[in-house]
Amino acid sequence: MRHLLDTTDLSLGEIDELISLAEDIIENPEKYQDVCKRKKLATLFFEPSTRTRLSFEAAMMELGGNVLGFSEAASSSASKGESVEDTARMVSCYADIIAMRHPLEGAPRVAARKATVPIINAGDGGHAHPTQTLTDLLTIYREKGTFDNLTIGLCGDLKFGRTVHSLIKAMSRYSNVKFVLISPKELSVPEYIKTDVLEPSGCEYAEVEQMEAVMPQLDILYMTRIQRERFFSEEEYLKHKDAFILDMDKLQNAKESLTIMHPLPRVNEISTLVDDDPRAKYFEQALNGKYIRMALIITLLKWGELL
Ligand code: CP
Repeated sequence: MRHLLDTTDLSLGEIDELISLAEDIIENPEKYQDVCKRKKLATLFFEPSTRTRLSFEAAMMELGGNVLGFSEAASSSASKGESVEDTARMVSCYADIIAMRHPLEGAPRVAARKATVPIINAGDGGHAHPTQTLTDLLTIYREKGTFDNLTIGLCGDLKFGRTVHSLIKAMSRYSNVKFVLISPKELSVPEYIKTDVLEPSGCEYAEVEQMEAVMPQLDILYMTRIQRERFFSEEEYLKHKDAFILDMDKLQNAKESLTIMHPLPRVNEISTLVDDDPRAKYFEQALNGKYIRMALIITLLKWGELL
């Protein structure tokens, strides 16, 4: 049984196949409208979500399948003390594939030990968010036509930002990719991302505290939210919450070909005036999330001989 717990569970060839499948789904949606007929996706969300949960559900519906699940731990038997393992084992009796979001890092991996159907990590604490990364990869590919020779600026909360950690892991596998890590010192990427991912990959990277000076270098600017829910105190959050706000002034020296991405939700880190700039691609990115999740559901069900 194959699960998707981290982006590196997929080879580069498998990522290429998922992207090709997503592009075919975009071009020929009618070909896929009954592919998952009578199959069920369970969305087990122990943490809030708009895009991930609803795009998974829309993805399964557009494949002709059905969905069941819960959107908060309080409405599941986790609130009575049921373990993640037991929940996964039970839900395997009711669904053919499970997407799970959990505040605890590693919870989907624990679930995968007992599940008898594929488990998809839909975000675990500050660790990883591999389907967001597949969404980001599809967006980069559709915008740039390649994953090589790109300079990517990652801006905001790089310490707790699981989407950033997953994207660095994924993009550092391609050729001549450079990272510019833009954050306050207190929110810089965890040491393991540097020692276990960036340095072994040989990718160039720089850590800076301001975005203006590096803007002209960037092919992609990946903005992130300062995440209130990950801070240990409100005081710490308030200190950093307005650290970076992307507005039209800051884009003055940016390339015409820049792609501005954001996993969303946004709070105030991108001015709404930027939304009308043709370089802003974050809403297209959210739509791509549905297509790549359709491709992933089909692929995991096929690998598990469930389709
Ligand atoms: N990008 C993302 O994970 O959004 P949600 O938290 O709304 O699912």
